[in-house]
Amino acid sequence: MDLSRSAAWSALVSHKHEIDKLHIRELFIEDDARFDRFSISWEDLMLDYSKNRITSHTLELLLDLARHAGLENMRREMFDGKTINFTEHRSVLHTALRRPPGFSLQIDGLDISVEIADVLSQMKSCCERVISGKWKGYTGRAMTDIVNIGIGGSDLGPCMVTEALRPFAHGRLKVHFVSNIDGTHISETLKKLNPETTLFIIASKTFTTQETLTNAITARNWFLTHARVESHIAKHFVAVSTNLEKVVEFGIDEANMFRFWDWVGGRYSLWSSIGLSIALYLGFDRFQELLNGAYAMDEHFLHEPLEKNIPVLLAVLGIWYNNFFEVSSHAVIPYDQYLHRFPAYLQQLDMESNGKRVNRQGITVEYATGPVIWGEPGTNSQHAFFQLLHQGTNFIPADFIVPLKTQNPVGEHHDILLANCFAQTEALMKGKNEQEVRHELEAAGCDPSEITALLPHKVFPGNRPTNTILINELNPYTLGSLIAMYEHKVFVQGIIWEVNSFDQWGVELGKQLAKAIFPEIQGKQTVATHDSSTNALINAYREYRLKGKTSASPQLSFFDEP
Ligand code: F6P
Repeated sequence: MDLSRSAAWSALVSHKHEIDKLHIRELFIEDDARFDRFSISWEDLMLDYSKNRITSHTLELLLDLARHAGLENMRREMFDGKTINFTEHRSVLHTALRRPPGFSLQIDGLDISVEIADVLSQMKSCCERVISGKWKGYTGRAMTDIVNIGIGGSDLGPCMVTEALRPFAHGRLKVHFVSNIDGTHISETLKKLNPETTLFIIASKTFTTQETLTNAITARNWFLTHARVESHIAKHFVAVSTNLEKVVEFGIDEANMFRFWDWVGGRYSLWSSIGLSIALYLGFDRFQELLNGAYAMDEHFLHEPLEKNIPVLLAVLGIWYNNFFEVSSHAVIPYDQYLHRFPAYLQQLDMESNGKRVNRQGITVEYATGPVIWGEPGTNSQHAFFQLLHQGTNFIPADFIVPLKTQNPVGEHHDILLANCFAQTEALMKGKNEQEVRHELEAAGCDPSEITALLPHKVFPGNRPTNTILINELNPYTLGSLIAMYEHKVFVQGIIWEVNSFDQWGVELGKQLAKAIFPEIQGKQTVATHDSSTNALINAYREYRLKGKTSASPQLSFFDEP
């Protein structure tokens, strides 16, 4: 039966009518203990979800819905390695990557605990050699720069983490990320590099991704124009992948390959050898702390009752707005400049996981699934899109992520930053009513006609929900917990919506069509095989090329991939 026809769903639909009459501001006035009731402290993290449009009854009903969806059972199945990614016939075991060694779990006839420990030890020894300078380049010099070439999950996680944890880097290596097929990305990066001291990590789960392999070939060509001798590649290129055959075909020695497994989804892979750039930049021990923080959150998610379970609460609150208030986006606002790539990372995690429209039986669902995830750090975002958050016609729930400790205690910056953060959640919740605006305008000496004209523009409806996630300090451990918290939130929502959160067929069609268009762009014939718009766009570019205005140099292409 469709979820939206369940009794648990209907109860929420009715309850929404009651909540419509309430304002969070009044709920705070009525209940001195509201913050205590709707907040959780766990390790170095505190979730304040009191500024939501909820009562205790709302949560009971939302958790009924989660139970109705079989959340507790599905959670166990994921951790136990059941084939819950059923469209790809795979287990979903990123949680195993951060589990302390010594457990036993057989997947495809292999004890994955042993497999994981092997790769971690390979990563550790690579880190020790590169960071200490024992890993020498083709002219005998130590590495100074690491370039991770990957895209999607093979880029966004490591890139976000290395940015977030800059203050924890050992400082002996610089790290760069190249993802976009736009030649600008690799070209601008190469300009900063010395081939004698650069180590490229070609990071691709499948090792067939067009962007990554095209960028990798450009990097290899650039390297060879300097190093000249093919055998030097072994000192400057390593691969991270599940696909040994393709790695070897590319020309990377098996000994320089860090493997992982198809039970690690791309967007869940930063905990695997895809995190090599993180481990090199921070040192292996810091990488291990990241894993430990994630493991602690896994344990919390697995064992805490739903009422006290941070990822579960975040998930059901998201569902409350997404499905009962018909809100279709969710903002994430980190009040920490180091987290500036966090919203971009979350976009893939959440939207590639839950941007689905059929349920596990393949039937089109009759309710909304994953929202649009977006955001920017505060306070920049306050001066860009907060106007809409405060006074727009849609209300957009938001998560505010705030470390209490700054890594850069200059002047009063951090106090001002946090004052702004807390002020914004208060303003979004309380708003400013007509009476308050009128008093303000009168006090400012405005005359009655001016007050009448200005008043509607200065009213803030408030009642706009936010979660605040306070972290004592953003460090490898707490960041690990934070990321795992969002992974599990996404999992819970996917279970309730009954979608497969672990496949991504929606990215395939565009890839297929690009394969067809690529030779047409380079061909001699005017293109007429598409609709008139696509034909015209392709032909406009073809004509531009034919006039000799592009200076692309041909190189081996990965469009020939099967
Ligand atoms: O965008 C689709 C996708 O398959 C992502 O899920 C994945 O993270 C990304 O491409 C990169 O894939 P790969 O690691 O195989 O190069």
